[in-house]
Amino acid sequence: MSKLNIGIILGSTRQGRLSPQVGEWIKKIADGRGDANYEIVDIADFKLPLLGEVDATEQATAWNEKLFTLDGFVFIVQEYNHSITGALKNALDYAREAWNNKAAGIVSYGSVGGARAAEHLRGILGELSVADVRVHPALSLFTDFESGSVFKPADLHLTNVNAMLDQVLAWSGALKTLR
Ligand SMILES: Cc1cc2nc3c(=O)[nH]c(=O)nc-3n(C[C@H](O)[C@H](O)[C@H](O)COP(=O)(O)O)c2cc1C
Repeated sequence: MSKLNIGIILGSTRQGRLSPQVGEWIKKIADGRGDANYEIVDIADFKLPLLGEVDATEQATAWNEKLFTLDGFVFIVQEYNHSITGALKNALDYAREAWNNKAAGIVSYGSVGGARAAEHLRGILGELSVADVRVHPALSLFTDFESGSVFKPADLHLTNVNAMLDQVLAWSGALKTLR
């Protein structure tokens, strides 16, 4: 059986964002497992305007085409005002079928591990028929980032990241049979 394709989606797009550091960390752990094709998917690369404001057929097509190549996702989620970023919500809104019947894990960060943003995302994923797995690595801005900017994750997260990836792969494989 060919390997599953898993997209590691960076949820923030602001200049100076921390999400690339977290995404690269997940990709390194994931690549070390050798059990799927993992790639970083940066929302910023797709230059999606706010949905409906201007004609964005080209950007929307490129975004949907990328999502259609993926069997599952790991969302890198950061907490903005107790929820997900506007950029991630906008990107979620830009597709429907391309999300459906796939699995996702959530890796979040914030002052309380990004927990509130992660829980909001779970509600949105339900509407998009994305099955979000239980295990959720939650990183602290205070203890996993030096001076709030240089990512230095505590070792204890490794077990959770691998358990999350195990679940994402199991469900991504199972849901592929529905599509
Ligand atoms: C507009 C805004 C709102 C924020 N609100 C929260 C919040 O409600 N809770 C929290 O824990 N952190 C909050 N933060 C801190 C962010 O979680 C932190 O800056 C994080 O690094 C943002 O992710 P990014 O660097 O990938 O953009 C907020 C940051 C911004 C820019």
